Amino acid sequence: MTSYPLPAAPSSNLLWEQFLGDFFTGQALPSSPLQAIFEPLRSPQVDGMVVVGQIGQTMDGRIATVTGQSKYVNGPEGLTHLHQLRALVDAIVIGVGTALADNPQLTVRLVNGKSPARVIIDPRGRLPHQSLAWQDDGIRKIWIVGDGVKVYPLPQVELISLPAIDGRIDPIQILQTLSLKGLKRVLVEGGAETISRFMGARCLDRLHLIVAPIVMGSGRPSFNLPSIEHMDQATRLPVKTHLIGNEIVFDCDLQQQRSPITLV
Ligand SMILES: NC(=O)c1ccc[n+]([C@@H]2O[C@H](COP(=O)([O-])OP(=O)(O)OC[C@H]3O[C@@H](n4cnc5c(N)ncnc54)[C@H](OP(=O)(O)O)[C@@H]3O)[C@@H](O)[C@H]2O)c1
Repeated sequence: MTSYPLPAAPSSNLLWEQFLGDFFTGQALPSSPLQAIFEPLRSPQVDGMVVVGQIGQTMDGRIATVTGQSKYVNGPEGLTHLHQLRALVDAIVIGVGTALADNPQLTVRLVNGKSPARVIIDPRGRLPHQSLAWQDDGIRKIWIVGDGVKVYPLPQVELISLPAIDGRIDPIQILQTLSLKGLKRVLVEGGAETISRFMGARCLDRLHLIVAPIVMGSGRPSFNLPSIEHMDQATRLPVKTHLIGNEIVFDCDLQQQRSPITLV
């Protein structure tokens, strides 16, 4: 297991800035713990996109309490990792469940880096105008609703309608739409339902599952996937593990099962 330094220490900040510069300028990335965990996100392998999911969970596989509270499952190390992921992508995607429960800003604040576009999947147009995700801060914002759903548009938000069959929008169509808008490296940040739909549609190249040393004992599970009867039907993934402080990142490689996204 590799252990990587945290940007909280000044020397680590310098390492992060150096890494960020090299990541985007196409320089060869020198071997380092940051390179080990983030280099797989740099270049598309299956088509023109890189799609990474992240979920922060307890040791007993919970992402939020039964009341939907998740601030914060992860400690400073896990949160720093999340902000590093944000700084490396063109767009963050979340489901409206998370937008309503957490009212997240979805910006890069804990490390240096540019905040990516924010994309909310909201098939029924439920997200209020005053949500922080829609704040007029100059960062690109995209509201994905179901075809025929009437919402009052906001001048600073791009509104996209996609077919919703039984309330479900095909994740592949979502990614095609983002690709058309030039957003080709995408972080699916949660919650469980949204990650599960992208996984179910075989749209993730990688999944960063960050396990915090907490037992919740009850609460919302990390995934909502079809039930299986036998253990041999369980998904077993090639995984690399990284220790960040006292949390473990399982970097799961999903490329073998990834569906190609026909990019237009
Ligand atoms: N620990 C963590 O890392 C973490 C991260 C994020 C969130 N959370 C927690 O997770 C909870 C929210 O998770 P959640 O699973 O309830 O909700 P969610 O995944 O945030 O949002 C789910 C909703 O988004 C819409 N949606 C997502 N993908 C869609 C698709 N492909 N097609 C159509 N609609 C789609 C649907 O909206 P409709 O319901 O309108 O159909 C769906 O019910 C909150 O408690 C939050 O605090 C934890």
